[in-house]
Amino acid sequence: MTKKFLESFTFKNGITLKNRVLMAPMTNFSSKDNGEVTDEEIEYYRVRSGGVGAVLTAVANVTDDGKGFHGEIGAHRDDLIPGLKKLAHTIKGEGAKAILQIFHAGRMSPPELLPDNQTVSASAVAPVREGAMTPRELTNDEIETIIKAFGDATRRAIEAGFDGVEIHGANTYLIQQFFSPHSNRREDKWGGSVEKRMTFPLAVIDEVNKTVKAFGDESFIVGYRLSPEEREEPGITMEDTLTFTDRLAQEDLHYLHVSVQDFHQGSMRDDSDTASRVQLIQDRVGDKLPIIGVGSLHTPDDVEKAMEGGVPLIALGREIIVEPQWIQKVEAGRESEIRTSLSVDDRETLTVPEPLWQAIVNTKGWFPVKEHQNA
Ligand SMILES: Cc1cc2nc3c(=O)[nH]c(=O)nc-3n(C[C@H](O)[C@H](O)[C@H](O)COP(=O)(O)O)c2cc1C
Repeated sequence: MTKKFLESFTFKNGITLKNRVLMAPMTNFSSKDNGEVTDEEIEYYRVRSGGVGAVLTAVANVTDDGKGFHGEIGAHRDDLIPGLKKLAHTIKGEGAKAILQIFHAGRMSPPELLPDNQTVSASAVAPVREGAMTPRELTNDEIETIIKAFGDATRRAIEAGFDGVEIHGANTYLIQQFFSPHSNRREDKWGGSVEKRMTFPLAVIDEVNKTVKAFGDESFIVGYRLSPEEREEPGITMEDTLTFTDRLAQEDLHYLHVSVQDFHQGSMRDDSDTASRVQLIQDRVGDKLPIIGVGSLHTPDDVEKAMEGGVPLIALGREIIVEPQWIQKVEAGRESEIRTSLSVDDRETLTVPEPLWQAIVNTKGWFPVKEHQNA
């Protein structure tokens, strides 16, 4: 029986993915301190780009003061374009579309990575996390500069040969911080009602689209990633997100990527509300904007089931690290050989850069890790 996820998918701009499985964006901590892509990263992506329809890269920062991780890819200077070019070329050379994820980490940056060791955000409200720094509230001019930086990063992605960019409006970083009533307490045009909290994300989308018109063409894909809810009080509610989703469906976007840990997970604000957040968004959007679902999907059966409610695209994260040949094995009828856990001895066979490997084996419960292959 043919599997739905092996069918091709065509975006509204006519660009076709050869199948409906994408590699989820995953930071690998392996770029140089100056943001340059390394050979280890290139190899890591090369072995994972031969099967999936598209690769969403690890997130790249758009400004110096927007860096969120050690070893993050940078998209904030022109001298980084040659490395980005190698990355795009490698992914595309193996047959996948290459989409660069771009962000500003805002109040989630580790201060030691920032030029002046000071985090910034919509408002001077610290994240709910022990020892977290209180960010400095951005001025109107600084906000405008960051919006322009998303455009500049998009231009670099175009020059480097990427097929698109994904605007990272999820996982508590700056774009989400503007949408969140927890981190955005502003009373100017950037904050207040749910509509006003959309101002920054919509301005970023607008700037990215203007840049595509100026430097690229219609074939360039622009996606948006969001997290549907926040635990904080106040925090983003599902109602906020559905209102935002209605608006995003009117924007010039090619897809909406819903970031959750588990595709089927219910509300993080209300345990009695068990409806899948991804499915709720899919039901609201219908066919106005293609949805990418993600989260704790490992086997071909998991992916098929997730798609039953009409979600057209699925991203696999950890599973593509554990099994770079996921699609190829399904296509060859070798599903039983798909790995869903890894062993501490697997780093070289899986071609995982050392910094990412250390994070994987040292963060308990993050990945299904066996002590030794034969244990
Ligand atoms: C090592 C690692 C790094 C990640 N880095 C990013 C990132 O750079 N950008 C992002 O949007 N999500 C990031 N995520 C979240 C994933 O994209 C994905 O949403 C999450 O892992 C759930 O999917 P999975 O169960 O298929 O792994 C990361 C996840 C992992 C495991």
